[in-house]
Amino acid sequence: MLSSNTDTDRQRSAQRSGPLTGTIRAPGDKSMSHRAMIFGAMAEGVTTVTGLLEGADILSTASVMSALGATVTKTADGTYTIKGCGAAGLQTPEIDLDCGNAGTGVRLIMGACAGYPITATFTGDASLSSRPMNRILDPLREMGVNATAQEGGRLPVMLSSDGDLTPLTYTPPVASAQVKSAVLLAGLNTTGTTAITEPIPTRDHTENMLRAFGAKVEMTPKNVGNTIKLTGPVNLKATTVNVPGDPSSAAFPIVAALITPGSDVIIENVMMNPTRTGLFDCLTEMGGHVRPDNFRKSGGEVIADIHVKYSKLHGITVPPERAASMIDEYPVLAVAASFATGTTVMDDIGELRVKESDRITATYHLLKANGVNAEELENGLKVTGGPVAGGGTVTTHHDHRIAMSALILGLNADAPVTIDDASMIATSFPDFFDLMASLGAEIN
Ligand code: S3P
Repeated sequence: MLSSNTDTDRQRSAQRSGPLTGTIRAPGDKSMSHRAMIFGAMAEGVTTVTGLLEGADILSTASVMSALGATVTKTADGTYTIKGCGAAGLQTPEIDLDCGNAGTGVRLIMGACAGYPITATFTGDASLSSRPMNRILDPLREMGVNATAQEGGRLPVMLSSDGDLTPLTYTPPVASAQVKSAVLLAGLNTTGTTAITEPIPTRDHTENMLRAFGAKVEMTPKNVGNTIKLTGPVNLKATTVNVPGDPSSAAFPIVAALITPGSDVIIENVMMNPTRTGLFDCLTEMGGHVRPDNFRKSGGEVIADIHVKYSKLHGITVPPERAASMIDEYPVLAVAASFATGTTVMDDIGELRVKESDRITATYHLLKANGVNAEELENGLKVTGGPVAGGGTVTTHHDHRIAMSALILGLNADAPVTIDDASMIATSFPDFFDLMASLGAEIN
């Protein structure tokens, strides 16, 4: 049958591998790549982006921003240029805006569109269409946007604005950089001060990059649990963005080296923004040799090269207040925990249930299918380490991070670990297979 051939084509298996060795460069940061594309499309002039992640999520965002009026071009040396809409503003698109698998893309672009007289319909793939959008639509409606969504606030969403919004002072009910960013972007073209108070600080790339595009973004108190204020209207000015390496992608080869005996690996060019490095703290507390070195600045962020060696790990209880700084890294942390002595507790992470998949349940099944001692909690996961049998097939639910986590588990399991569908890995880490193979990982 044709469909079963296709299914088999999408499968991949990882098997116990020799020591992983060598040096690789982390792919461009997904969060910063989305923002560079969106802000560049809104700005006056031509923005140049180096190090852009050429993942499917970013390419979806690029095509949506083109449909809204920007011109995105890849130059011969791999640099991207974005001719922004500037004073003319984003335009009502002639087509539906298909954001693919990208939650960051759809949510930030809805915020960006809200400030202009635009009517647009947002769609996405099966995974994105199951994710909640009311967290964005509620504050945007308070600002004056009309939005109709499917049951439960799901896509497709039809958004319609007259571009004359009321500024909002808002405390998001969930710790979410996407919500914060959507409201701030709506505030750009709104007269008056839009303010967000974050009970727990989330990644601050929107604030930092908006400043690079000429916006005045204030944070009080500075750099701790923040109120972020932006006074509009603001005309963004094109700039150059050098996108550093993605710590969330670096997480996979890092955990791979930690659990594969004899490994000694360097991951270059990793962004060390403290709103993103919670996983590295956990792995270090677990006894992992994860040593950032050669600190320098790139694209307004501190970056480093991370030296990782195979380590005997022990379980920890992850402090819940660390969740925002490692929100995408729990599945791969659970893989590290599977090889650690003792129990690792990851609790108060209910947000994981509304990511590309329900990552608590998906990770639990990933582990159980391969003989790991795991327990699903109401809002978390407990993992007790030991030898990993492997031999299971993991359902990835269109989730790139579940797919990569399962393959990393297989690198030190007794029998190969198989995933049903590797295609989504291209959303965030298109070179995953080549880079892992260059380190010696056996993934077929
Ligand atoms: C992101 C924020 C996070 C994260 C996502 C990227 C961003 O989502 O899970 O992968 O770029 O702002 P939330 O803001 O919903 O936690």
